[in-house]
Amino acid sequence: MKIEPFLTEQFFTDYEFSAPYLLASSDCETMSIAELLTLAGSSLADLGQVTLGYTESQGNPQLRTQITELYESVKADDVVVLTSPVEGIYLAMQSLLEPDDEVIALRPAYDALNNVARHLCREVVPWNLVATDTDWELDFDRLASLIGPQTRMIVVNFPHNPTGFVPTAAELDRLVELAREHDAWLFYDEIYRGLEFDTPIPSAADCYEKSIVLGGLSKTYGLPGLRAGWLVIRDAQLRDELINWKHYTTICPAAPTEFLASQALLVRQQLVDRSKSIIQKNLKLCGDFLGQFPDVFVWRRPRAGSVAFVELNLSKIGFDSATDYCHHLARQHGIVLLPGRCLGSEDRFVRFGLGRQSFETSLKAYSNVVSATISATG
Ligand SMILES: Cc1ncc(COP(=O)(O)O)c(C=O)c1O
Repeated sequence: MKIEPFLTEQFFTDYEFSAPYLLASSDCETMSIAELLTLAGSSLADLGQVTLGYTESQGNPQLRTQITELYESVKADDVVVLTSPVEGIYLAMQSLLEPDDEVIALRPAYDALNNVARHLCREVVPWNLVATDTDWELDFDRLASLIGPQTRMIVVNFPHNPTGFVPTAAELDRLVELAREHDAWLFYDEIYRGLEFDTPIPSAADCYEKSIVLGGLSKTYGLPGLRAGWLVIRDAQLRDELINWKHYTTICPAAPTEFLASQALLVRQQLVDRSKSIIQKNLKLCGDFLGQFPDVFVWRRPRAGSVAFVELNLSKIGFDSATDYCHHLARQHGIVLLPGRCLGSEDRFVRFGLGRQSFETSLKAYSNVVSATISATG
């Protein structure tokens, strides 16, 4: 059976490694293996000692213990180390969903969070984030009207890609209450966790026994090339079923990745602080730039994470859709903004990525293009 195209990855495949001005990347600034090891107080010689045998399917016990430090009440047995964060979405959906099930999924969302479930079960019902004039909001009345005995799973991601929305602790409680009331699983993607601009909120892993929480080192920690991710699953039976699915996909994590992930977690606060300081600088640059063109852009400031979702006034830039505009920018100017349609939104939004050191240079290039467009169209 065919699965829907993965529009985000397809768009990046076309431009990510050729366009000079990346303005849409969701990961934070990365570093070399040597830099990471130096930061963690180890060396390339230590990496050289890692043997290349099979590893434990559930993940190295010491690494799993380190991962538990990110949570309040999680035990090493609750953690399954993955071969990439995105693998966790596939494995969880495969393990849980049956053809007659219904899933409620937050929208917009990273493609895999909607498409894998759609491939496996009867229906994925969108729960739309609501855009107000200046912000994003969760509509709990709407969620309460969608959820019922047919709901097997609710799928969310906070801090959210692409809006940078993060719920308050009270909103997280409300979400958990609704899931619990209906005995639904809660798939909670926390891959941007740690990048909250104000107060951090608890992990869903510490709030709900039927949560399946995705974490990883790609975004917050700036290490996407490591392909290090994990799931926290408190339910032992589900964990066993998921590990069985894992035997059909990747069997076990890569040994060098497990070693490097363990080193990264030793210095996790330094990695988070580094990412956050880049984001804060870029957030200001981004807000100032968009504020210069209030007729063209609607700026809803993110509350967390490394991305922002910006609405375009298409008539001001002479395009019918954000998708056409983004292809034009990439092909004609080497500037990469992601069309929001890839993430399931209406085709007048674009995603900015705020985690890269090159943001200022790329934004300058984009600013020149926007200024030229505005002066040409009046
Ligand atoms: C919300 C979300 N979840 C999961 C992933 C997958 O992470 P990775 O590409 O490191 O597997 C991404 C990547 O963009 C994402 O944005």
